[in-house]
Amino acid sequence: LYIGVDLGTSAVKLLMMDASGDIKKVVSREYPLFFPQPGWSEQRPEDWFTQAMDGLKELTAECDRSQVAGISFGGQMHGLVVLDADDAVIRPAILWNDGRTGEETDYLNTVIGKDKLSAYTANIAFAGFTAPKILWMRKHEPENFAKIVKIMLPKDYLAYRLSGTFCTDVSDASGMLLMDVKHRCWSKEMLEICGITGEMLPELYESYEVVGTLKKEIAEELGFSENVKIIAGAGDNAAAAVGTGTVGEGKCNISLGTSGTIFISSEHFGVDEYNALHSFAHADGHYHLMGCMLSAASCNKWWNEEILKTKDYSAEQTGITKLGENHVYFLPYLMGERSPHNNPDARAMFIGMSMDTTREEMTQAVLEGVAFGLRDSLEVARSLGISPERTKICGGGAKSPLWRQIIANVMNLKVDVLENEEGPALGGAMLAAVGCGEYPDVETAAAKIVKVVDTVTPEPELTRKYEERYQYFRRIYPIVKELF
Ligand code: XUL
Repeated sequence: LYIGVDLGTSAVKLLMMDASGDIKKVVSREYPLFFPQPGWSEQRPEDWFTQAMDGLKELTAECDRSQVAGISFGGQMHGLVVLDADDAVIRPAILWNDGRTGEETDYLNTVIGKDKLSAYTANIAFAGFTAPKILWMRKHEPENFAKIVKIMLPKDYLAYRLSGTFCTDVSDASGMLLMDVKHRCWSKEMLEICGITGEMLPELYESYEVVGTLKKEIAEELGFSENVKIIAGAGDNAAAAVGTGTVGEGKCNISLGTSGTIFISSEHFGVDEYNALHSFAHADGHYHLMGCMLSAASCNKWWNEEILKTKDYSAEQTGITKLGENHVYFLPYLMGERSPHNNPDARAMFIGMSMDTTREEMTQAVLEGVAFGLRDSLEVARSLGISPERTKICGGGAKSPLWRQIIANVMNLKVDVLENEEGPALGGAMLAAVGCGEYPDVETAAAKIVKVVDTVTPEPELTRKYEERYQYFRRIYPIVKELF
């Protein structure tokens, strides 16, 4: 049995599958997210660990626990986790959607310079990346900064607590702005710029490599064998790509989770000359380009739960009938925006309401605003000559047939719906299976395990209408950005 642990922003999801890829059970455990100041976003690593441990117990409650062979991860990316000399967490983790590092990001992009950053790492600085957070800590919390002995990413904290191995993988490490993505090693220049040493950083592994085995006391507590292998795992988007079969050349996946991402896999290293898309290592041993919007399904959650005070998202969507004809627009920048605007101060807004605007139109505008935001990243890829014809889709938002239809038509992409949309958790379990030798490589595992059950095809009339709407949408941000 193989377990994938998806350490998300709202919850940890755990999935268990057998050697043939049959999913046996999925469980989920929530933990709090803290916004100590507007635009800040933090979590307690201890919550991740306790909830993951409880989740592992629940996941394996009815099975023969001695059959568990490997555990791996998909983890929320970019989060800064810092430990002191006693392995104690120094401060709450600063997450991927935290926007406090505007100044540090500007410093890196303008004083160090985008060209140099791109030469060192293949990327420019974005507020959520890890390096600007290290600079922020050095300036604003020097007493905490002085205590740093280990720097790691969220899922690596779990691997460390479970196995005692201080490790990370190349896909997740790509998002730190500390790694030379092309050569899959740490960048000496970036370490120097951030005032840290190589000893503070974990050892780099490929996502499917074994990093160790379970600690004795953890194995006892879980009732697992001590031989259970821990496999490095991947950033959640690369893990989702594995779990949706987005591996090899030119495949595409859209994830509608708390964040929204468009992920394009490639067998070759490449950089987006416009600096809007991230150029990262992939969990299959190759590379990918990715656009990331900071609020995707979280816009829909906010709109339904905070504003409409309902949890029945699908009931809210039943009254939506006029696709492509909505005069209400929503800018989905509730936490600022990463791709393509790179502006932590951007904020969300509705625009275009009149006296006859309905609740349904506003709900529709939220779903469409997220689709338009993803299209912004797709347009950058298209301008680089990368034009996928179809995409997979995963994440909580992918469960909505209406949202899938909107995405297909706004993006003009065929959307392949999968048997299982738990991308990162399934991808984690698949990486565990590859690491344990069940499959020779990630591509083979994906070809055997991932199943497409339906395809949503763009409709010409709707695609045309959405093209007009999108051209309107893309004019809004440049006009209002001075306000933020
Ligand atoms: C990717 C990113 C998000 C998080 C969400 O660059 O920041 O997708 O990984 O967990």
